Amino acid sequence: MKRAPGLITLSRREFCAALGLAAGGLAIVGCSSDGTSQLGADASVLPPDASGSGSATCGTGTDVGPPTMFALNTPVYVASGKFFVVRDSGGLFAVSARCTHQGVTVAVSGSQYRCPAHGAAFAFSGTVIGGPTSVSLSHFSMCMLANGHVGVMAGTTVPAATRLMV
Ligand code: FES
Repeated sequence: MKRAPGLITLSRREFCAALGLAAGGLAIVGCSSDGTSQLGADASVLPPDASGSGSATCGTGTDVGPPTMFALNTPVYVASGKFFVVRDSGGLFAVSARCTHQGVTVAVSGSQYRCPAHGAAFAFSGTVIGGPTSVSLSHFSMCMLANGHVGVMAGTTVPAATRLMV
């Protein structure tokens, strides 16, 4: 797996594209060097996929839906990527659902993740609470897609403190 070098996962163009979409297509001051809207240019950077389904990607990202679908401290499991998307007070993060003991998929149990194989327990942040492992769950890189949805790059790990602030 690649490891992102920094804490920030949004490029300037991605950030401006997300702001533009959130503002309903209005030009955002500061997102253009020539004073024009960057929506057209940004749309070409992160286009919807050829199927027209709106499941655009950023890098190898997976479209997990609009930011509004993620409630505070309520992990949403994305089966196609075997990860959870979680919102905490700092923003959104994506955390692997693969147990760091032997790779079994963990599930939400109350206010934590539990592994059904040998009982490992993790906080929603991925930090180990108990069980036969001392390794926290991996966090994955996220970005905003051109369609205003959240993208997760499950092949790229980031520090656990990384958040997508949307
Ligand atoms: S595989 Fe999860 S605790 Fe062993």
